[in-house]
Amino acid sequence: MSRTPLPYNPKVLDLFRNPKNLGKMEDATVTAVAGNPSCGDMVTFYLKISEQEIIEKASFESYGCAANIATSSVVTEMVKGLSLKSAWEDLTWKKVTEAVGGLPSIKFHCGVLAVGALKRAIRMYFEKKGTAPSWLPQEHTFEEKQALEEEELARRLTKRLKTEEEK
Ligand code: FES
Repeated sequence: MSRTPLPYNPKVLDLFRNPKNLGKMEDATVTAVAGNPSCGDMVTFYLKISEQEIIEKASFESYGCAANIATSSVVTEMVKGLSLKSAWEDLTWKKVTEAVGGLPSIKFHCGVLAVGALKRAIRMYFEKKGTAPSWLPQEHTFEEKQALEEEELARRLTKRLKTEEEK
């Protein structure tokens, strides 16, 4: 049985082949790993944050698909030079999807994972600092809820596997 290739636009394919800011950041201020429960893929975001809480640089490692690599790549470019507040407020999965020129709808969750990992990294920064600015919502955003921590992802996938075995 042959599989029909997904209708990715040329920009997504180009970013997939030539992603920006790919790789581990040794001097990162904060690192967040996040996984998507619908596909089990993982992404790691690294942020270097200045004392003034400006994102000086961002990089990522992705074990996801072309859509996740493309969206993660644009996220790292879009947040560079932004304050944590602006990065938090400006970046949504819809904006990131637009920035890659659109995605097939079954791939929307891959962009949600990229933004969720970024937001988890920003929240983690404040958790490490022990402070929370007024603009940071206590309740996790949609993207954060979709981008689970490694342990939670493993727990959910094991549960799903068991349920499928019992069928
Ligand atoms: Fe898992 Fe795209 S299918 S990140």
